[in-house]
Amino acid sequence: MQHVTLKDKTFVPYITSDKILESVKQMAKKINADLADDMPLFLVVLNGSFMFAADLLKEVTIPCEISFIKLASYHGTSSTGTVTEMIGLTEEIKGRTVVVVEDIVDTGITLEKLSILLTKKEVKQIKVATFLLKPEAYKKTIAVDYVGMEIPNDFVVGYGLDYDGLGRNMKEIYVLEQK
Ligand code: IMP
Ligand code: MG
Repeated sequence: MQHVTLKDKTFVPYITSDKILESVKQMAKKINADLADDMPLFLVVLNGSFMFAADLLKEVTIPCEISFIKLASYHGTSSTGTVTEMIGLTEEIKGRTVVVVEDIVDTGITLEKLSILLTKKEVKQIKVATFLLKPEAYKKTIAVDYVGMEIPNDFVVGYGLDYDGLGRNMKEIYVLEQK
């Protein structure tokens, strides 16, 4: 693993592909055990989660469905402020166990917004599976049920995560170089 430069920033190797896949397998094992009878719908939050979701779901062996969503934020009227909308969902999710698949949970703002949107659709239960969690940054109360790895409050790229659109295709995770 070499240093990589994306635009104006340099990143150094942080988590190897082997370590990533090992922790993804452990997570899949837990999910297989916990949700075997729930016929869960995995909701993969694009763009960042595509690579994690592919690896995770290859190891998930219980009956399930998989769908992909995007969150779009726009400024509503002055009274509503920023509105977040969930796009891409075509499945009926009322009464179902939904597993949100995230690449990273940082402050938890994104997760909270999504959780509110799903709750409005009367799902049976929401489970959250994230590859990375930054515990020092996480300020919300929503339970994060499955965590691949906890990391400090540093900026990382690779394995789906980007810096200004770049770096998503790298199979290892890199961290911003400390100067
Ligand atoms: P939130 O703060 O939990 O709402 O996270 C918002 C979004 O910020 C995530 O879904 C990621 O797209 C992005 N993000 C947070 N931390 C990182 C990071 O270290 N690298 C790349 N993207 C990040
Ligand atoms: Mg994301």
